Amino acid sequence: MRAIVSLLISLSFLGLSCRRATRVAAVVKPPRPSAYELQLGKDVYQRYCVGCHGDTGAGDGFNSFSLDPHPRDLGDPAFQKSKSNVDLSDAIRRGGAGVGLTSLMPPWGHTIDDRHINAVVLYIRSLRR
Ligand code: HEC
Repeated sequence: MRAIVSLLISLSFLGLSCRRATRVAAVVKPPRPSAYELQLGKDVYQRYCVGCHGDTGAGDGFNSFSLDPHPRDLGDPAFQKSKSNVDLSDAIRRGGAGVGLTSLMPPWGHTIDDRHINAVVLYIRSLRR
């Protein structure tokens, strides 16, 4: 009886530690974005963002020269490192004015749904140099 109880206890500990291990792994290493989501993000970017942010995210779209301040370089590794995906999607959704930047960055929350905003964030990540 004792042996069975201790076996059950150790099995449940094993179960707990396995579950914890997968949860930690999921936090540390997010799944790679699928090619489909990335393409979706690129489509959104090309339609709504490229005019100001430019093809490579460098901030040199055809409309950027009339903007003061210019859009920053989205591919800059230091910029990429300083922002979480939530920071980026928040700025996209609420616009510059919504997050304390310039109102020249429009808010997109009423134009682009959450799935497409998440996809464009993935695409911005792929612009990192
Ligand atoms: C009318 C021009 C314009 C368009 C169109 C535009 N942006 Fe911006 N964006 C800006 C400007 C200007 C800034 C502010 C630059 C700064 O403060 O560094 C900015 C800033 C940003 C930032 C940086 C926020 C930060 O934390 O510094 C992100 C991310 C961004 N835009 C994404 C997008 C995406 C995605 C789209 C398309 C859905 C888009 N922008 C469309 C002009 C534009």
